[in-house]
Amino acid sequence: MRRKLVVGNWKMNMTHAEAAAIVEAFVRLVDQKQDVDIAICPSYLSIETVRNLLRRTHIGVGSQDVFWMESGAFTGRISAPMLKAAGVTTCIVGHSETRGKFGKLEVPESTVGYFAETDETVNLKIKALLFQDITPILCVGETLAEREAGTTDQVIRGQLAGAFAGIDGAEFANGVVAYEPVWAIGTGKTCDSAEASRVCGMIRGALAEILDADAAQSIRVLYGGSVKSSNSGELFSQPDIDGGLVGGASMVADEFSRIVLSA
Ligand code: PGA
Repeated sequence: MRRKLVVGNWKMNMTHAEAAAIVEAFVRLVDQKQDVDIAICPSYLSIETVRNLLRRTHIGVGSQDVFWMESGAFTGRISAPMLKAAGVTTCIVGHSETRGKFGKLEVPESTVGYFAETDETVNLKIKALLFQDITPILCVGETLAEREAGTTDQVIRGQLAGAFAGIDGAEFANGVVAYEPVWAIGTGKTCDSAEASRVCGMIRGALAEILDADAAQSIRVLYGGSVKSSNSGELFSQPDIDGGLVGGASMVADEFSRIVLSA
């Protein structure tokens, strides 16, 4: 039986003082909710502050990204051993914003693709995290153009196959996959729960083929993309959805707590 998991992705928001205020309020609201796994992914600069505040709770601290090399001349990068030493237990990999496919093009065209994440770098990051025993949260999902072209399942299968090259089921058995349709991220457009559940079920089937049947049963498959307390209960009650990856709504303590309580 897979436990539900709710992860907050704060993206490039909040100073460490702002992060501390939200975490303190959030912990008071969800401390009793012990039957759901929870993680918060603040900016690198707030990891230590957030981790110290979460030390005596069941809530984990995660990272939003990692670089795959362990150390060296890589200006501006953060490695998996550094995350491990800072107490990070989980890490997002392959988010559509780092893959460079922003959901809405309100950002300058020149910044799209800036992070240049590919299936190959996603694969290297997953391996670096597994080596440090940090749980990867692999994000997959289609753009609006891909959905309209009817290639959603094919795109996601390709992302999964690329991400897991050279990785076996036992290694990723405690890992997490988040289905995040790019068109639903930060847009307020949630994927309808029946379709989100269908895609998450398709992902589980693909995991059985690419990894193995045991891993496909133990890996948690989350939904992400405009999750809020008004839709989280319905999404999380779908049999193939094991929780959520929450962006905007995770930065408001009582809204995020309502999402967790609905799981
Ligand atoms: P959102 O972001 O909840 O703000 O749509 C989700 C995500 O990008 O992980």
